Amino acid sequence: MTNSPEGIHGTTVTVGGQWGDEGKGAVVERLTRRASAKNVIRFSGADNAGHTVYNEFGKTVLHLIPSGIFTARAILTGGVLINPERIMSEMEELDEKGVDISPDNLLLSEHAHMIMPWHVSRDKLKEAARGEGKIGTTGRGVGPAAADRTAREGLRLGDLLLPESDLEAKLMKELTFQTALTEMMQLQATFTRGDFDEMSHYAQMQLMRKALDRYDSAKIWDMLIRSKETLGPMIANPLPVIWKDHDDGETSIGEGAQGGLIGSVGGTYPYVTSTNPGLLGFCESTMIPPHEVRDTIAVAKAYMTRVGEGPMPTEMTDSEAEELRQLGGEFGATTGRPRRCGWFDGPATRHGAHRVCGARRLAISKLDILDYMDEIRVCDGYVIGGKFYNELQNPSADQLGPDVVTPHYRILKGWQESTTGARSFADLPENAQKYVLALEDTTGMPVDFVSVGPESEAMFEL
Ligand code: IMP
Repeated sequence: MTNSPEGIHGTTVTVGGQWGDEGKGAVVERLTRRASAKNVIRFSGADNAGHTVYNEFGKTVLHLIPSGIFTARAILTGGVLINPERIMSEMEELDEKGVDISPDNLLLSEHAHMIMPWHVSRDKLKEAARGEGKIGTTGRGVGPAAADRTAREGLRLGDLLLPESDLEAKLMKELTFQTALTEMMQLQATFTRGDFDEMSHYAQMQLMRKALDRYDSAKIWDMLIRSKETLGPMIANPLPVIWKDHDDGETSIGEGAQGGLIGSVGGTYPYVTSTNPGLLGFCESTMIPPHEVRDTIAVAKAYMTRVGEGPMPTEMTDSEAEELRQLGGEFGATTGRPRRCGWFDGPATRHGAHRVCGARRLAISKLDILDYMDEIRVCDGYVIGGKFYNELQNPSADQLGPDVVTPHYRILKGWQESTTGARSFADLPENAQKYVLALEDTTGMPVDFVSVGPESEAMFEL
């Protein structure tokens, strides 16, 4: 723990230190509220994220709208890929719960790219084409939308503010390009499955035509017009607002999505997402330089989870994982998929939280889920080629498999009593305190917050 409590003020970024699903939503909501932050700024990812919040409005699962919207102005920067249908249904859900949404508390960057139906189709087709080597994406169109953004293709939220005739012309141009691309991918996916050659010529033609029929331009146009009406008032350039509050020393919380270990460049490539989940993702999309960000806090779970494919050095046996999965409710908030579970991995968490995401300190979530264990393992390093390393050496997926890396564990005694009532480090059973200190030791990062339950008071500062 950091010896003097620092509080939260100024521009502070929160990130995910592991493979995503660390409980960032709940942590961000609580930090935003406690710091009376003026803004909560989402800067990366898309609706592949699922941030769960528990507060006076009950349980809310958000995918795009920042978790701090309940008490602060929420801003989505140009770094976020926005599916207009999804954000509209989130706004509706919040509205039904009694959370007022207006341009006063929700700003959407005109620079954000839109995720369109073709991105979702291309995502699914690409996964089919990958066959055995699939990534296990969330199927939300993130990779193709990010690829289009890099290739300078596609529609941005700001296009919704164009006169209808200009927007329609843009849509038609885009549709032509996307239809051709989808047709090609449809063929690729079919070739990979190896059955295309087996089909009759007629069936082949039908298949290709299906790709062409995929995009109903009238339906898409309708969706764009609804988006124009509903989202239009919130679409703006939020940069001057972000900069002014930053320069005035106001508190703004950056809300990360996904986690460092699935970061597009620093994660376990190719089993990664397509945006930068770290401090640099925040800096790129807010244009606030890294040295002006006051603090970066990584949220890390007290154990590891992962959804989708890719290496996970400390993965548990099936029966160990099943018990933890049930107790921790480890099922994807976006896709409902069961999450893979593992022992806390110090080197991997250090890599995700510190190296990829630039965090200085940790907030540990879900410590209470481990209350039942009699013995708990913590990975403090990897043995690679007979040598011990306390830091991850190479994040590429092929360098992290069981044939390359053997995790080295410390075995700690469990505490086997409830921690859910703890409101300070001193309230924790001695073995739980030792466990938290082992997390600090194996990551080389101070643990400054611990959460032992979903309710607001169940997160305390150390
Ligand atoms: P994509 O972001 O949908 O392209 O998925 C790429 C990889 O990142 C897959 O393994 C997903 O399961 C994983 N992923 C994406 N978003 C999240 C998240 O919010 N939590 C956990 N894993 C995620």
